Amino acid sequence: MSPVPRFHRQTIHTPASVRAGGWPDWSGQPEVFKYYPADFPRLSLAAVPDVRLLLFRCAGLTARRVYGDTVYFLRANPSAGALYPCELYVQARGVAGLADGIYHYEPRGERLCLLHEPESATDGLESCCEDDRRVEGLVLLVSAIYYRSSWKYRDRALRYCLLDSGHLLGGVEAAAICGQEDHEIFCRIDRQRLAAGFGFGGREQAMAMVVLGRRGSERVTSLAMRLPFVSGTGTFVANRFIEGALEEIGRPEHCRPAAGGAGYPFSAGILADAIARRRSIRAFAGVPLLRREFDAVLDTATMAVSMDCDEPVRILAVVNRVEGMEPGVYAGRRCLAAGDFSDMARYLCLEQDLGGDSGATLFLTGAAHNYLPLLLKAGLMGQRIYLTATGLGFGCSGIGAFYDQEAAAFLDTDDMILYALAVGR
Ligand SMILES: Cc1cc2nc3c(=O)[nH]c(=O)nc-3n(C[C@H](O)[C@H](O)[C@H](O)COP(=O)(O)O)c2cc1C
Repeated sequence: MSPVPRFHRQTIHTPASVRAGGWPDWSGQPEVFKYYPADFPRLSLAAVPDVRLLLFRCAGLTARRVYGDTVYFLRANPSAGALYPCELYVQARGVAGLADGIYHYEPRGERLCLLHEPESATDGLESCCEDDRRVEGLVLLVSAIYYRSSWKYRDRALRYCLLDSGHLLGGVEAAAICGQEDHEIFCRIDRQRLAAGFGFGGREQAMAMVVLGRRGSERVTSLAMRLPFVSGTGTFVANRFIEGALEEIGRPEHCRPAAGGAGYPFSAGILADAIARRRSIRAFAGVPLLRREFDAVLDTATMAVSMDCDEPVRILAVVNRVEGMEPGVYAGRRCLAAGDFSDMARYLCLEQDLGGDSGATLFLTGAAHNYLPLLLKAGLMGQRIYLTATGLGFGCSGIGAFYDQEAAAFLDTDDMILYALAVGR
C-alpha cells in the first residue's frame, strides 16, 4: 500500500475540526468570473453554434438564482459550495468560423476572449503536452483559481479544486459524446510553461488539457504567448499549503494511460438534456431506487477513462434503500456487510441528511501515489454519476464534506476516501 499523501492527511475533517471551523471572511469573498481587460477582442459564440454548444455543455451557465438583490448562476458542472474555482481556455486550429488562436471562455454572455494568435505553425498548447503533435480542432485547458474555494474551505479547498476540475473534465467527456467527437485527457502537462504563458502568477493552476481534434504529424514546440497577470478573484489571500501541495502533485509519474469513455445508458439526446437540467438534489423523499438504476450508476461510473494517467478508483457503497438489494455495505455489487447503516452514512457525511436518506451513498476511494490524477478521476466519475442519475430521472449530490478517518474505518479500507456521492429519490 502506498502512503497517504500528506496533503490528504492534512485536510481531513474530524468531528473536532468541523466544530472548531469558524466563519469565512465575507469581506474577502472572491469573484467567480474572470474577465480580461476590455481591449482584448471578444467574439460572440452565436457565430459558431457547434463550439457554443460544446462549451455550454462543458462549463456553461444552466440556471440563475436571485437572493435579495444578488444574482447567482449555477453551471453545467457542480462545484463544492458553488464557488466555481475552474476556468476554461480553448485553443482553436482549423475550426470553421473561428480564427486560429487561444481564447478564454466567458460563460456569462457566451463569448470567447482572444488571448493569443499563433505566431508560427509550431506555436501552441500542444507544446505543453508530452505528445506535442499538432491538433486540428480544439484543445481545452482546465485551470483552477484556488482562492475562490480556499476563501471558504481553507486547506480542504485543495481537494475541491481537484474534484471540481474532474467534474469539468467529465463534462467535457459528456459534451464530446453528445457531439460524437473523440477526446483525450492529459494531466501530464508542463504546468510551469502554461503558468508562464497564461500569466497565472501562482494564483491559478493548470489542471488538465483535453484534445478534441485530429492529430497531425508535425510537432508544436513552443508557446509564444506571454499574457499579463489578470486576477480572477478581485480579493486574494495566499494559501501556502495549497500552493505547495499543487507544486508537489503537479508532476505525475509512472503513469499508465487508458483509453475509453463513458457509455451512458441512454441516447446522446437524453444525455444532452441531462447536462442542461443537472442539479444537486437538496433532500431525498426516501423512495427506493430500482436495482437496475443502482447498477447503471455503477456501470457508467466505472467505465474506462480516456486519460494519460489512469489511477484506480474503487466504489464502496452504503446501500440504504434499493429495491432487490439488502441494505448494507457493498464493494461494487458484492455485499460486504448486511444491515441498515443509514444513520452511520448520515454521520459519516458530516451529519448531512443526504447521506442517510439516499438510495445509496457511494464512497469513491483510492490509494494511488499520483494524487492529482486520482482526484481528477474521482471528480470525473462524479460527473458521470450525476448525469446518469439525471438522465434516468433520480437525484444526486456530491458530498465533499465527510469524516475521513471514521469513513475509512467503517468501510474497513486502507484507501483514502476521495469523494462521496448520494443518489436516490
Ligand atoms: C466536490 C463537491 C463537493 C460537494 N459537497 C457537497 C456537500 O458536502 N454537501 C452538499 O449538500 N452539496 C455538496 N456539493 C454540491 C454543491 O453544493 C452544488 O454542486 C452547488 O451548490 C451547485 O449546485 P448544482 O450542483 O445544483 O448546480 C458538492 C459538489 C461538489 C462538486
